[in-house]
Amino acid sequence: MNLRYTAGKAGSTRRLVRRLKLVLFLCTFSFLVNAQVITSPDKNLTMKFELKGNGVPTYQLTYKKKPVIKESKLGLELKDAASLAEGFTVAKTEQASVNNTWEPIVGEQKTIRNNYNELLVTLNQKEQKDRQILIRFRLFNDGLGFRYEFPEQKELNYFVIKEENTEFNLAGDHKIWWIPGDYDTNEYAYTTSKISEIPGLMKKATIDVHAQWPIKNTAVQTPSMMKSSDGIYINIHEAALINYPAMNLNVDPKTFKFSAHLTPDAMGNKGYVQTDFNTPWRTIVVSDDATDILESKLILNLNEPTKYKDVSWIKPVKYIGVWWEYFVANKSTWAYGKETNVKLTDDFTKLTPNGRHGATTENVKKHIDFAAKHGFDAVLVEGWNIGWEDWFGNWKEEVFDFVTPYPDFDVKGLQKYAADKGVKIMMHHETSASATNYERRLDDAFQFMKDNGYNSVKTGYVGKIIPRGEHHDSQWMVNHYIRVAEKAADYQIRVNSHEAVRPTGLHRTYPNWFAQESARGTEFEAMGGLAPEHATILPFTRLMGGPMDYTPGIFQTDLSYYNKDNNQRVNTTLVKQLAYYVTMYSPLQMAADMPENYERFPDAFQFIKDVAIDWDDTWVQEAEPGDYVTIARKAKGKNEWYVGGITDENARTATVRFDYLPKGKSYVATIYADASDASWNKNPQKYTIRKVLVNSKSVLKQPIAPGGGVAVSIKEGSKQDTKGLKKL
Ligand code: NOJ
Ligand code: CA
Repeated sequence: MNLRYTAGKAGSTRRLVRRLKLVLFLCTFSFLVNAQVITSPDKNLTMKFELKGNGVPTYQLTYKKKPVIKESKLGLELKDAASLAEGFTVAKTEQASVNNTWEPIVGEQKTIRNNYNELLVTLNQKEQKDRQILIRFRLFNDGLGFRYEFPEQKELNYFVIKEENTEFNLAGDHKIWWIPGDYDTNEYAYTTSKISEIPGLMKKATIDVHAQWPIKNTAVQTPSMMKSSDGIYINIHEAALINYPAMNLNVDPKTFKFSAHLTPDAMGNKGYVQTDFNTPWRTIVVSDDATDILESKLILNLNEPTKYKDVSWIKPVKYIGVWWEYFVANKSTWAYGKETNVKLTDDFTKLTPNGRHGATTENVKKHIDFAAKHGFDAVLVEGWNIGWEDWFGNWKEEVFDFVTPYPDFDVKGLQKYAADKGVKIMMHHETSASATNYERRLDDAFQFMKDNGYNSVKTGYVGKIIPRGEHHDSQWMVNHYIRVAEKAADYQIRVNSHEAVRPTGLHRTYPNWFAQESARGTEFEAMGGLAPEHATILPFTRLMGGPMDYTPGIFQTDLSYYNKDNNQRVNTTLVKQLAYYVTMYSPLQMAADMPENYERFPDAFQFIKDVAIDWDDTWVQEAEPGDYVTIARKAKGKNEWYVGGITDENARTATVRFDYLPKGKSYVATIYADASDASWNKNPQKYTIRKVLVNSKSVLKQPIAPGGGVAVSIKEGSKQDTKGLKKL
């Protein structure tokens, strides 16, 4: 544009004004194109996209006008190709709004609202022969999701990712609940600190976990939970992790800038892409009320609905197992033989029995009887199959075949015994992290399950991954877990994976992959213990991505009970273990203790028998990460409600409201409470159980012991049930 002003010519002033107007208009136009703003439906969140400097895509996010994410770069570095990080112009922007609902197959709510405003930006890289990428932003009332999209195009068919550049430039030195960045394990204990304190605490936080691979520079894992000094809660994670490595976050302790750190493969590469392709969503859940973080459905909303045609077989499962005795009682174990060097080709009937094998026909029958008597759906049996003699730590390829039982485990006999009692045996496929071996044998393993009446499997990935050099969280393994889920669906089998990559809401798309461990769970209570605050952090971190098989329900918390040399204890009261069934959402819940311990406390055990595992609705009543969580839920399709409240090492008074009950009607509430002199380390098994009448206006102020909890069941009562009961 020629802006030169030639003095003295007639009409020149008018022409100049006209030209200036045009320039102004074009500036505004290009400003509008290069910078786009969207707000959440409730207007609390505002997201601004802008191309900066040399065409670098950036975004920023505010909540109630306060900065949450300051200007942060977007883009990717490629291997042996120009980056997808700069040199962009905006080719097109499109906006859309969506407000609908959908119903999960199992879940915390019957109906989930999906309400967002969307901005889709198409970016052109002129100097790279017009390569094109898209960035799709979805702004919900509970936060932001965005992802990169790569349409199929001549100049961008295949590429290898060196690193994703996505930044999360936080607005302050927030409090953060974190575990070290790691390519292989998420079984760390949480550290609470300021962002600036992370480097100084990293060494201490990187406790020994089997097959760990801590990231060398300062990095943390997602879901990463933070709180600003002015009370804004921020949770960063990802949704729909498919065909892509899991994301850790590099931390800059001085500027509080986090940036994506993808898990590399055996070659050090961070993702192989063939267009068209979309990355997982990067998610930022935001609120000034911690209960909103736990109620957020953003991650689920960003996952695709399932493509499975028939989902009628996908049902929740409450189970017991031949399991905890391996950890505490020192009386039994997974392996059958005394020998420690075995091959799958060996004749296992020739091994010398170690006399401590847990998965014997007799022991399993005892568990089936108990499950049938108390209404459990299934009995998990670990250690039923050959190979456990040298499964641990040898980085061996052919560890298990998943179809050959030990000589003292009668597959057919037990199938009949369980079927006659209306109980299922839950399969266990420990892969010893040899994913290659598992994939080769998967069809045989699932066919074996089908032939023998099993319909759910607990998988496990303890150890260093094979293919060697891959990590639990790398692209190949991310795809492996999904392959297993899809194959299991072909056989109508439900999957509960342990030591797999942390969940990202994929249970919406693959609803038979209905629970995971992927964090430090109850097993660690017998391997050093969990801090009393641990379970108040998990809902804000690990459980943001999906249901957890936490394996609660330990009644015998002092482990010297089994063996006086074992000075470990489960760091909770008995009642806190009850509360977990409500605070730790999962459609798969285990009563993890041994039957004989439940028989010692039948009145408390009643809560575990009663509690629902699938819900019509959920109300998070009060919550603060690291301190306490109180949640009420309505059982799916029933007029029954359950409440769980937990605290950390500090005693507190939980406030339980009943305003979700239908108005004008009284219900019978059974309150399971810590005794006044109970605590996680003193009198953990002392509790009280009382019944009272409640209605929608009732409020319970319930003292909770240090490391304790409260559990409440609420049911309609007959005249007989309510006779003599006092109002709360
Ligand atoms: C670790 C799992 O988390 C645990 O539940 C299981 O018993 C062992 N691996 C053996 O597979
Ligand atoms: Ca584990």
